[in-house]
This record gives sequence, C-alpha cells and structure tokens, in this order.
Amino acid sequence: MASPFKKFVQNWKNVFGGLEDPKNKDLLELLAEEYLEERKKAEQLTQHAQELRYRHLRDKLIEIAETEKRHAEKLRELIRKLGGTLPEQKPRISEKGTKPTFQKLIEDLEEENDSYWEILETLFNAEEKGHTELIPELKKMRDEEARLRNELLDILQVTNPYTL
Ligand SMILES: [Fe+2]
Repeated sequence: MASPFKKFVQNWKNVFGGLEDPKNKDLLELLAEEYLEERKKAEQLTQHAQELRYRHLRDKLIEIAETEKRHAEKLRELIRKLGGTLPEQKPRISEKGTKPTFQKLIEDLEEENDSYWEILETLFNAEEKGHTELIPELKKMRDEEARLRNELLDILQVTNPYTL
C-alpha cells in the first residue's frame, strides 16, 4: 500500500498536474487522451486494412489511417504549445485475435464515433479556457472525424457479410 506521503504527493500531482499549469490541466488531459486515441486508431486501421480483400477499400482505409496519424501529430503540437508533456504510455492496440474483419471494422467505427465526441468536448474546454488559438485546428479535426466516420461506414456497407 502506498505510504501516506506518497498518497499526498499523488493527490497533489492529480490536483496540480505535476509541473504543468493547473489552469490547463483538464485541457491537457483531454488532448493527451485524444493523442493516444488517434495513434491507436491509426495503428489499428492500418492493420485492419491488410485484411481487406479489395484493393480500393484497403487503400481507402489506409488513407483514413493516415489522416488519424496527422491528427495525432497535430495534437502533439497543441500539447506542446500549451506547455504540456506527451503521455508516456503507449496506445493500447486491440489484440489481433481471430475476430472477423467486419467486426473489427464495426469497432473502428465505434471508436471514430467516440473520437468525434471527445474532440467536441476538447473543443468546448478550449473555448471555456480561452484558448482560442486551438479552436481552428480542433474544429478542422472534428469535421474530419465526421468525414472519416462516413467513409468508414461506406467501407462497412460494402464489406457487410449479411448483404448478398
Ligand atoms: Fe482523428
């Protein structure tokens, strides 16, 4: 069990976000979470693309993965701009497993959907904290998330094993 002192330090860190500006704490946390999420999506989508039989669908999914990669890079820039540090942990990639590709794509779609809302939350937080310099990039990302979600849905419709 952690000593009372360690607990105290941990609580203090939780409250003040270590050396980061406490004013930006929530926003930095949101950006860091989203940064990991985008990296995870980029990696998973690249993996899942290899499972697609049709070249044009594979290329489309890789293109989506590339956009997610760019989102992660942009988020990294925004975190640094706010004086934050990048999360040390690696994105948690879902295990490859033996799930059908269609099911993996459905999970990708759910993650895209979550991302849309998470970016929206980050956007509201940035507005609330007066970080207007972040707004155009976050809005662009939100719009792109919506587009990617639709593109993924298109891929899903073509690969749907239930449609003949
Ligand atoms: Fe994204």
